[in-house]
Amino acid sequence: MIIREFRPSDLKRVFEIENMSFSQSYGINTFKGLYDMGTGFLVAEEDGYVIGYIIFWIKYENQGHIISLAVDKNYRRLKAGTRLLSKAIQVLMMFDIANIYLEVNENNCGAYKFYKQFNFKVDRIVPNYYDGGDGAIVMYLPIIRSR
Ligand SMILES: CC(C)(COP(=O)(O)OP(=O)(O)OC[C@H]1O[C@@H](n2cnc3c(N)ncnc32)[C@H](O)[C@@H]1OP(=O)(O)O)[C@@H](O)C(=O)NCCC(=O)NCCS
Repeated sequence: MIIREFRPSDLKRVFEIENMSFSQSYGINTFKGLYDMGTGFLVAEEDGYVIGYIIFWIKYENQGHIISLAVDKNYRRLKAGTRLLSKAIQVLMMFDIANIYLEVNENNCGAYKFYKQFNFKVDRIVPNYYDGGDGAIVMYLPIIRSR
């Protein structure tokens, strides 16, 4: 498995993975727009086939933000998510940020556990965050730097 920068030719495949992973989609044009804006955008590739992606940026001056992360259903629990998130954290840490934030659906136990084992903490719950009324758990990873 390799982690590499997203390329526009990956767009359809990334959109496919997003669609199988979330009930609410950002839409292909938003993905294209995020890429054009220069957000962090990485994919995991297994034997030339894209199996996952992560999109991230610096939302405020000192705050990293994971916009979207998903792995193809048929390739989960093989550490693609871990590899993608680790690389995104590594990139974000090159900037002077204090925390990395993300939102996870309150009913998404798998993703919650995934982020917990990365040491993400719960910040707050935002009711009715998603279409359909589900709430979001806002989580953050404090960035600790060794001097
Ligand atoms: C969350 C997600 C990205 C994890 O990707 P992944 O490649 O399957 O995760 P990894 O293989 O790196 O998992 C690492 C560890 O996280 C935990 N974990 C991951 N998925 C889990 C699940 N469904 N249930 C419980 N723990 C889970 C486990 O501790 C796992 O280690 P183990 O497999 O040795 O037990 C993937 O399940 C996914 O795409 N889900 C749908 C989209 C989503 O929820 N995205 C995040 C919301 S913001």
